[in-house]
Amino acid sequence: MKATRTIACLSLLLASSGAFAADKVCKVDIAGTDQMQFDKKEIAVAADCTEVEVTLKHTGKLPAQAMGHNWVLAKSADAQGVANDGMGAGFASDHIKKGDTRVIAYTKIIGGGQTTSVKFPTSVLKKGEAYTFICTFPGHSALMKGAFKFG
Ligand code: CO
Repeated sequence: MKATRTIACLSLLLASSGAFAADKVCKVDIAGTDQMQFDKKEIAVAADCTEVEVTLKHTGKLPAQAMGHNWVLAKSADAQGVANDGMGAGFASDHIKKGDTRVIAYTKIIGGGQTTSVKFPTSVLKKGEAYTFICTFPGHSALMKGAFKFG
C-alpha cells in the first residue's frame, strides 16, 4: 500500500515536470476544394498523441463567402446538429453556434488560397468514440465530412 502511494506520487512529480510523458503534437493536413470536397474521408490520430494540430488549406480560388470551408470536429452523433445550428449562426461566427458545447474543435472559415489551423489536446477525446469532421458552411456538410478516429 505504502509503496504504491510512493510510486503514484513520483509519477505525478515526473508528469508535472514534463519528464514523464513527452508532449507529442500530431499534425494533420487536410485540404478543401472549389468542388466542395475535403481531400480526406478519414483522419486517424494515434493514442500516444497528446495534442492534435489540424491545418486546413483551401486549394481553390473561390472567396470564402461563396465557397467557404472550415474544419469542425464533433461526436458523430452530434455532427448533424452542429451543422444545422451552424447554418443560422452566420458567416461572421464561422457558422458555429455561439457556445455550442458539441463542438470539440474548429477552425475559422477560409476561402481559396488561404490556410488556417487549430490545435487541441487529445484529453478531450475518448478512445473508441465515433467522431466526425465537417464543414459547417451552409449546404456543405453533406459532402464535406469524414471520420475522425482516436486511439
Ligand atoms: Co465548406
